[in-house]
Amino acid sequence: MSADGCDDLRKWQCDCSGRAECRNDAYDNGSGHQETISSVSDVSVADPRLEGRAVRRVVYDEAALAAKCRELGNEITAAYPDGDLLVLGLLKGSFIFVSDLVRQVHRPLAVDFLVASSYGDAMVSSGNVRLLYDPETTLEGKHILLVEDIVDSGRTLERLVKLLSERNPASLDICALLHKHIATELSHPVRFVGFDAPDEFLVGYGLDHAERFRHVPYIASLL
Ligand code: IMP
Ligand code: MG
Repeated sequence: MSADGCDDLRKWQCDCSGRAECRNDAYDNGSGHQETISSVSDVSVADPRLEGRAVRRVVYDEAALAAKCRELGNEITAAYPDGDLLVLGLLKGSFIFVSDLVRQVHRPLAVDFLVASSYGDAMVSSGNVRLLYDPETTLEGKHILLVEDIVDSGRTLERLVKLLSERNPASLDICALLHKHIATELSHPVRFVGFDAPDEFLVGYGLDHAERFRHVPYIASLL
């Protein structure tokens, strides 16, 4: 995870210029039907939380996010009929999603968080991560559900899965609210996916740009 959202945006702009055709890909906007990005007109949202930044549009509104948390909560409840479940939220991006999601899981669980950081310029490109905060509880013998806000390259998760699986959990699965499906670096499947997201830079509901906009209650695409 980049400590500075600017890196994320620079990376996205760079990626986007090389993949302009991706903008016409179909994506799921949460209303149950597929929509092409090019068919949606640009809008600016008059919201003081956006600090005057123009946004292309709201991609997932509060109702769509709440409905998705209920749906994922039900899936997760059914997927873990027994055993100890430890939900591990990857900070900071997942903090709102985790809090909404766990309240929709109707079985016992524990919650903890991970803070991961890329280190050194050379390390960013190779995708190594180190843990700045490591959960206090033992992972051994527990079902671990790693919760991520968005899967982009998949680099962060790939390294984390390797690191955590060395601690002998009973199972290790990933739940991501958003998946851009462009991850080339992730060998581990993402078991629970909220939305197949467009390849655009998204903010809100925990997602930031340079640490701003995490508190925006919907997810918007920055212009
Ligand atoms: P990955 O390791 O390339 O998959 O990067 C995942 C991380 O990058 C996420 O946890 C976010 O912190 C950040 N990220 C990726 N795409 C976006 C985006 O569209 N908006 C905000 N942050 C993003
Ligand atoms: Mg970020």
